[in-house]
Amino acid sequence: MKNQATLAIATVLSVLTVACAACGAEADARLGIGNSPRQQISMDEGWRFHLGHTSDVARDFNFGATRTFAKTGSSRRGRDAIHVGFDDSDWLAVDVPHDWVVGLDFDPKADRSHGFKTVGRAWPANSIGWYRKTFELPKSDEGKRLSLEFDGVFRDSMMWLNGHLLGRNMSGYTSFRYDISDVANYGGKNVLAVRVDGSHFEGWFYEGAGIYRHVRLVKTAPLHVAHWGTFVSSTVNQQAGTAEVTITTKIANESDSNTTCRLVATILDADSQIVAENQSEEVSIDSWETVEITQKITVKSPTLWSVDAPYLYRLGTTVKQAGATADTFETPFGIRTVRFDADKGFFLNGQPLKLKGVCCHQDHAGVGSALPDRLQEFRIEKLKEMGCNAYRSSHNPPTPALLDACDRLGMLVVDEQRMMGSSPEILSQLESLVLRDRNHPSVILWCVGNEEMIIQGTDLGARVMTSMKRVVRRLDPTRLVTVADNNVNDSWGSAFSLVGDVQGCNYFRLGDVDGFHKKFPDQPIIGSENASTQTTRGIYANDTEKGFTNAYGTTLPEWGSTPEEMWKFCAEHPFVGGVFVWTGFDYRGEPSPYSWPCINSHYGIMDVCSFPKDTYYYYQAWWSDKTVLHIFPHWNWPGREGEEIDVWCHSNCDEVELLLNGKSLGRKQMARNSHLEWKVRYEPGVLEAQGYRDGKQVATKKVETTSSPSQIRLTPDRRTITADNKDVSVVTVAVLDSEGGIVPIADNEVTFRVSDNAKIIGVGNGNPSSHEPDKATKRKAFNGLCMVLVQSTRNAGEIRLTADSPGIEQTSVVIRASVP
Ligand code: GAL
Repeated sequence: MKNQATLAIATVLSVLTVACAACGAEADARLGIGNSPRQQISMDEGWRFHLGHTSDVARDFNFGATRTFAKTGSSRRGRDAIHVGFDDSDWLAVDVPHDWVVGLDFDPKADRSHGFKTVGRAWPANSIGWYRKTFELPKSDEGKRLSLEFDGVFRDSMMWLNGHLLGRNMSGYTSFRYDISDVANYGGKNVLAVRVDGSHFEGWFYEGAGIYRHVRLVKTAPLHVAHWGTFVSSTVNQQAGTAEVTITTKIANESDSNTTCRLVATILDADSQIVAENQSEEVSIDSWETVEITQKITVKSPTLWSVDAPYLYRLGTTVKQAGATADTFETPFGIRTVRFDADKGFFLNGQPLKLKGVCCHQDHAGVGSALPDRLQEFRIEKLKEMGCNAYRSSHNPPTPALLDACDRLGMLVVDEQRMMGSSPEILSQLESLVLRDRNHPSVILWCVGNEEMIIQGTDLGARVMTSMKRVVRRLDPTRLVTVADNNVNDSWGSAFSLVGDVQGCNYFRLGDVDGFHKKFPDQPIIGSENASTQTTRGIYANDTEKGFTNAYGTTLPEWGSTPEEMWKFCAEHPFVGGVFVWTGFDYRGEPSPYSWPCINSHYGIMDVCSFPKDTYYYYQAWWSDKTVLHIFPHWNWPGREGEEIDVWCHSNCDEVELLLNGKSLGRKQMARNSHLEWKVRYEPGVLEAQGYRDGKQVATKKVETTSSPSQIRLTPDRRTITADNKDVSVVTVAVLDSEGGIVPIADNEVTFRVSDNAKIIGVGNGNPSSHEPDKATKRKAFNGLCMVLVQSTRNAGEIRLTADSPGIEQTSVVIRASVP
């Protein structure tokens, strides 16, 4: 164990205003990144993959046989996948992020909560994944410190480099690293073998399996900023118009000599101009020790990070050893204040802000849990368009790429631990979460557990939570701690409530929120999880056989509520800081209220492809500043002529008039946070809504009866992507009639082809009962829509995506792949 010395260094303040239009590479140069020995190399590409076996040793490449743990560094040939000489040439070539479960079959005998995918203990041949990666290291790396960083591997992974065991990591949601400096082969070939055991689950929702997040090789000099070694926080003095930025840096001396160094902290603004710099005094660090240095820097006229203007600064931390740069490490950060007030709710930068939040799991159509970074960003963009400002990463630590997107786009985050507990293993998982994520301005609150019904109202539970809170406080004294509690055993007001800083109420209806506030007037409250409304996009009557629920949003579990009941309660209770709707997007698994053939949840405001369902517009009407006017259902009801159809409207107009084929069906006042309904006798044609504010028409919306499918429309979310083998265009595929209207009941199968400078990495359609493969080049439309994910390669130029469907004219679209 290393000893830690903590030194608070008196700081020499120097605020510089350097007029310069530097950006990009120049900014890197300004921070000294190019001069630093530190190198960060993506290890995402060039893996080999093969399924193993949970019990058959031969099919598991001899894992667990005598040689696995007997001698270190064995490199004999043969059937042992951990050995350098093993021949993996017939294994599948893959890049990570990679989730092998998304490509498995569905089976009614498989685990329901994991979406009936054939993984788990009952599927021994599908539940172990082996990965191998061969890479070269130059001779010149000898003497450096080398480590491999994993953002997350689901789950229970074990790794060997060149036949040497690196370690084992249990949770599929924690980030971890291994130092490989001793066992690396310098000036030659290195083989990393990874065994991933997906046979045990952690959650009650689809989790996927594999190396489903990024991997990096990091090289540093022996003297360097320690892993997760920077912590940047700030206080804002509004009167003085300044922010005091506190930077704590842990420096590691991984060498056999004692040394001295000083630290230079440089803050760049978003235009890459230096706004402040600080140099510490010289400190000494003994061999194989770490030291912590605290620097305080005043930033004049800081631009604050907010959800509307997510302004990011960059901190460059340079370790100077005998005048030379030993290391430079960059930490993006934001300057902002957050406060939870027991009476007035949540405040960002001193301004009240109701948390209009969603809970989310991490999978997406087409790719399971292995999302390219662009998809993380895409999902956050979709939520922001709805007016959502907060994201709860239920019920596990998210990938860092998600938090980076939230920082950039302005989305507040409740960052959540997977499992509650105070064992060394669980506290170390919590520690890694806080150390990893504490510099993200988006993170406003740590959540240490969810619906821990067995302990949430007990003394034991209070002791466990106290231990967890102690860890959080030690590593991050700037943020509060909550736990999501559903009041089973009347726990609101006891145990967890007495330890947590913010009371997290899962489902307002499960307890007496007003009573709690009266009894604990100093305890802030949020609705940590709520609604759980079950809807299916484009479906207007429940269908138990197909596993569809209606999109009006009237189907709920007994603990749930309609969006309207839930949001009215929240909006009318100023002391409630906000709410997190269960969930932003449908996710695989938990197919409530139905079961097989249903494989998806129905809780999403959007479906698994991020296509909005009708309730999306309820939230958008009352959460965003946009003028919203949305009427539903669709107007294709052949055979139901003369029958009454329920027509609903979500809008934030004062009044809405509904017309059918030009005839008014009445003008109605819209109550705040509400919706409108009409009963309309069906006749084909045009249903039209006209929205009024202050007596003036401000919006119209038409829903028209369509004819049969005759065209396909391909709409990429972006028409230019980067040719970096990572970037993705999310293409919406709509089946249209001859007039260009989306046929709302179309289920035509569409086949895709893409030019060879791009890849189709997955397809989806949001149908919660579809058993079609996601790893495919064709998909049926579901209620008029499906989606295809097109990923770039390194070949820049025009990507052409072509869509074919029997009886429909072929169509294509061009996406440009530009040089990175
Ligand atoms: C909650 C739970 C969520 C999800 C939800 C469904 O109780 O925290 O993970 O299961 O119910 O309504």
